[in-house]
Amino acid sequence: MEKEKILKAGEIAAEIKEWILPQIKKGVLLLEIAELIEEKICELGGQPAFPVNLSINEDAAHYTPSFNDDTVAEGLLKVDFGVEIDGWISDTAFSVDLENSELNRTLIKASEEALTEAEKILSAKTKMNDVGKVIQERINFYGFNPVVNLSGHSMEQYDLHSGISVPNVDNNSGLEFGEGLFALEPFATNGRGFITEGKKGNIYLLENDRNVRHPTARKILNFIRENYGSLPFASRWLIAEFGNSAILALNLLEREGVLHHYPVFTEEKGKIVSQAENTFLIEKNKVTKTTA
Ligand code: CO
Repeated sequence: MEKEKILKAGEIAAEIKEWILPQIKKGVLLLEIAELIEEKICELGGQPAFPVNLSINEDAAHYTPSFNDDTVAEGLLKVDFGVEIDGWISDTAFSVDLENSELNRTLIKASEEALTEAEKILSAKTKMNDVGKVIQERINFYGFNPVVNLSGHSMEQYDLHSGISVPNVDNNSGLEFGEGLFALEPFATNGRGFITEGKKGNIYLLENDRNVRHPTARKILNFIRENYGSLPFASRWLIAEFGNSAILALNLLEREGVLHHYPVFTEEKGKIVSQAENTFLIEKNKVTKTTA
């Protein structure tokens, strides 16, 4: 693995977290927040590993603004973003309370502390279920539920979810982490702790690469292949490049099953979800938090 690039991608993410936080205020356009972060990633020498996820209240993940989105920041906002350098990824997330709400603040504390507790026991020899257990216990301590069907994940070059899931509950998995790059991401909620798939969230992935006949769709597919490959991308990135013709092409490519269009992962209506996430490089006798 290219350790230097992994660490650099993490440093960029850490710097951006501090830089963006004071700019996130109630009423600011989500689109503005996403663009600020994505531009800053490039300015600092990285690329977005995926579109900035900005998910509010019961939406846990996988929403990014569309090109003309008028959604504004409010409630409990999760900011989840990734940086890649030559495919080596850092993945990090934090939550912001924009309502001066005790409930929101406690939910945020619960997921942040769960992540800290998990970090304390992390090593190449740590078992998956032990991490799940400390996360679950910490979130339960505050009277909330961890989201059981969202999890952390192993990462490889150009691969955001490379096969191993890191549970947010005790799932009886005795699998050891071993060496590698991992994102840990507890979600805490006052809902049932189980997300379902909601509306589409403007984030796509090239899923079944094959030839298409429609000329515009073919042109856009080529661009996707060359620029994003196996990593997720936003519809607005293509609209910035190709104008409105990208909308038609994306719809067509989605209908033909070439592209996967991610649904938003959502809790029960009216409930709130918080998230905290960092990336860890686990070596034989050493664990490095790359994103802080
Ligand atoms: Co992640």
